[in-house]
Amino acid sequence: MYGKDKGGILQHPDGTVLKQLQPPPRGPREQEFYNKVYDSDCCDSILLELREYLPKYFGVWSPPTAPNDIYLKLEDVTRKFNKPCIMDVKIGQKSYDPYASAEKIQQQVSKYPLMEEIGFLVLGMRVYHVSSDSYETQNQHYGRSLTKETVKDGISKFFHSGYCLRKDVVAASIQKVEKILEWFEGQTQLNFYASSLLFVYEGSCQATTVRLSDVTLAEKRRVPKGLLSGGDVLEYNNNINVINSTENGKIEASVSKGLSKFYALHKKACSKRHHSQLSLKVENSEQDNVWKTSTCITQEHLNGNVLPQLEKVFYHVPAETKESANVEVRMIDFAHVFPSNTKDEGYIYGLKNLITVLQNILDN
Ligand SMILES: Nc1ncnc2c1ncn2[C@@H]1O[C@H](COP(=O)(O)OP(=O)(O)O)[C@@H](O)[C@H]1O
Ligand SMILES: [Mg+2]
Repeated sequence: MYGKDKGGILQHPDGTVLKQLQPPPRGPREQEFYNKVYDSDCCDSILLELREYLPKYFGVWSPPTAPNDIYLKLEDVTRKFNKPCIMDVKIGQKSYDPYASAEKIQQQVSKYPLMEEIGFLVLGMRVYHVSSDSYETQNQHYGRSLTKETVKDGISKFFHSGYCLRKDVVAASIQKVEKILEWFEGQTQLNFYASSLLFVYEGSCQATTVRLSDVTLAEKRRVPKGLLSGGDVLEYNNNINVINSTENGKIEASVSKGLSKFYALHKKACSKRHHSQLSLKVENSEQDNVWKTSTCITQEHLNGNVLPQLEKVFYHVPAETKESANVEVRMIDFAHVFPSNTKDEGYIYGLKNLITVLQNILDN
C-alpha cells in the first residue's frame, strides 16, 4: 500500500500489476529508472543483466478517462503461483538517500534504528498455511520489532508454510540472493536506497503431492546402471530423485515427503555417492507427525514388502529439485535509485547479512 487513501498495487488480469506513479520526485525517478534499464537501445551489459532481477517493465499506462493519472505497468511476480507466499524486505543500511533532509533522515532512522546494523528490514509478509487454507499476514510493525537476536526466527516465519520449514525454498532463495549480490559486486553506477527484494514461493502443495504408486512407477522406469556419469540425476519422475553412482555400481535415491527435509536429503545424497544402500525416507500423513518414519533399505527391498507397507502414505515433495524450487526473488521499488561511481556498500552489506541469516535458518 502506498499513500493515504490509495488502493495499493493494482493487479491486472493480463498478468501485470499497475503501480501508480508517486508524486515527484519519487514517481518520475522510478519511471526514469525503469526506462533506462529497459531502453530498447540499451547495450550496457550491467543494465541488461539487471533486467533478470527486476519485474519486466511494460511502460506506463493511464486510464483513458484520466490521461494524467500515470501507472507503471510491471510483470506480476506472483502471477505463476497458486497460493503465493510473499515477503517484502527492504535492503541497505540507509533508508534515506544522499539528498534527504535532516528531518527525513531522522524520520527514517527512527522507523528502524537497527537498519545500519542489520542492513535489511522485513516490511511485510503473507504466508499460506496449508492446514487452515488461509493466509497469515504480518505488517510493517512485525519487521520493525525484530532485533539482531530475533531476526532469524522472524524471517524464518516466512518459510513455515503448512506443516514444516520449507528448507528447499530457503536454499533456492539463497541462490537467487547470491546472484543479485554478484551483480552488485560488479557494478559501480547505481546506488539503491529504500529499495526492496520481493520473495515469492508456492505455498500450496497441490502440485507436489503424489501417491506411492508414483514411487513404484519411478522405480520401474529406472535407467539401467552405467548409462550416465556418476552423480547424474537419472530420473526425476513425480518427485522421485534417483541419483546414479558408477563408482560402485549402486543406485542411491532420496524420496522425501517433507517440504522440509528435501534439501538436506538431496544434499546428503549428492555428497555421499559411495552409499551402497538406497535411502528411502518417508513420513506418514498425520499432520504433526513429520519424519516419524525413516527407513534405510536395500534395492532388493523395493521389490519386497516395503512398498505395500507404504501404500497409505502421501508424499509431499517439492516438484523440482532444490536448485529450481519454485521461488522468485526480485528487486522492486526504485523511487530512490541514484547514479553513482562507487559500489553500493550499504545494499551489499544488507544482502550479505540476509544471506547469513538465511543460511543459519538452513543449517539449524
Ligand atoms: N511487480 C510486482 N509484482 C507483484 N507484486 C508487486 C510488484 N511490485 C510491487 N508489488 C507488491 O506491492 C507492494 C508495494 O510495491 P512497492 O513498489 O514497494 O511500492 P511502494 O513504493 O508503495 O513501497 C510490494 O510490497 C509487493 O507486495
Ligand atoms: Mg516498497
